[in-house]
Amino acid sequence: KTKAVILVGGASKGTRFRPLSLDLPKPLFPLGGKPMIEHHIEACARVPGLMEIILLGFYEESLFTSFLELTSERFGVPIRYLREAKSLGTAGGLSRYSNAILSGNPGAIFVLHCDIGCSFPLVNLLRFHVQKSPEFTILGKVVEPGEARKYGCMVKDPNTCELLHYAEKPSSVVSELINCGVYVISPWILDYIGQIRNGSQSPNRVSFYMNRENDIIRLEQDVIMPLAGKGKIYVYEMDDFWAQVKEPKTALRCSELYLAYYKEHKPELLTTPTTSLRARMDGLLFMRNQKPTVGLQETRLNIVGAVYIHPSAKVESNAKIGPNVTIAAGVEIAAGARLKDCIILEDVNIKEHAFISHSIIGWGSIVDAWTRVQGTAENPTIFGAGVVTEAEIVVRNCTVLPHKTLNESCHQQIIL
Ligand code: GDD
Ligand code: GTP
Repeated sequence: KTKAVILVGGASKGTRFRPLSLDLPKPLFPLGGKPMIEHHIEACARVPGLMEIILLGFYEESLFTSFLELTSERFGVPIRYLREAKSLGTAGGLSRYSNAILSGNPGAIFVLHCDIGCSFPLVNLLRFHVQKSPEFTILGKVVEPGEARKYGCMVKDPNTCELLHYAEKPSSVVSELINCGVYVISPWILDYIGQIRNGSQSPNRVSFYMNRENDIIRLEQDVIMPLAGKGKIYVYEMDDFWAQVKEPKTALRCSELYLAYYKEHKPELLTTPTTSLRARMDGLLFMRNQKPTVGLQETRLNIVGAVYIHPSAKVESNAKIGPNVTIAAGVEIAAGARLKDCIILEDVNIKEHAFISHSIIGWGSIVDAWTRVQGTAENPTIFGAGVVTEAEIVVRNCTVLPHKTLNESCHQQIIL
């Protein structure tokens, strides 16, 4: 029997995700066409014998209520939100709510960071954990040498996979094997964190005492570091895709990775040129085994590469969409528009011949006819909610705060 805890953090941490976090908590931001944490929940629900999923964070509970009700029902697994009055760190909340987490006696607990996207190989991770039977198993992945320093870096025993050494965001290269923010822990770890909390276990680190006043306990510095090399922590290495989502540009990248993953493993989740426009306008997904009528065939969409279009979106068949595009509910895309590498959020209206690339277009925005909204992978254009552009302007590499009206072209600006 297992449980899962998803660390969702809270509003004070969403700053790097502005302006998109002004209107929606980051954990619900869509990646690959689904709310960020729906990917986590789906993966947890696939683990046989999973008892419950707990979201742990310091956001207002009400922000998640309807999403959790729907998702819980859809995946047939109980989900609840437990709130920290303030940030308690990545381990503090686990200890604060240890009774709730341990109720029903789970033998192991998954702990997942919310701000990552990956294939979540939880079943294999658990199998490895059971086989090695340590107290703590960390999902690890080898990344490019230049990348590794942004994350927790790990050195493992090449034969046993035991974690020998751990450095959190080190200033020099320690290892290219990083901590993916996905763990399996035993109930003993919650006990251990409890001892840190009541002072009977002191990790003996300056940073720990600095955080002590705020009741913050961090899984990385206060638990993983002191236990590394003591036979308690093992690393399960994978080479599937993995990405962290901190700023809007990494959301665009992570969404792309999910879409590419679907193309290979779950193509039925993507929208194809033969997904009938008319069927979708009726809010029905075109069934693959349903024989298309002539009328439906006439309305093929012009789709390139991996694309997800919500069934309620209205897309003119001569707009060209893809690759790497997700289009949310209620969006309207007019004839002649061209979209690639972008996330279009709910109720956006894209008019005739508009061009959008490397951009995220916020809820309810309007991109007028013949306007170009472009960015680059490193510097995408981001519209907050309700941005309106005039026709025939060019917006390049800009961040636009909610409800702004753009009436002239702009380049590399933050529009406040
Ligand atoms: N409930 C709760 N309370 N959650 C929190 C808190 C808190 O006080 N603080 C952070 N979190 C959540 C965040 O929402 C996120 O999902 C996760 O914990 C980790 O966030 P950070 O503490 O900001 O760390 P990081 O993302 O910079 O680095 C961590 O994750 C990397 C993988 O993405 C470290 O564990 C790295 O070692 C690791 O490589
Ligand atoms: P790929 O991008 O590699 O697929 O090459 P492509 O030649 O098909 O060009 P692209 O897919 O970018 O463009 C497809 C259609 O969009 C063509 O009919 C272009 O004329 C049109 N297009 C290109 N740029 C713009 C633009 O700024 N605005 C509009 N409305 N259409 C454009």
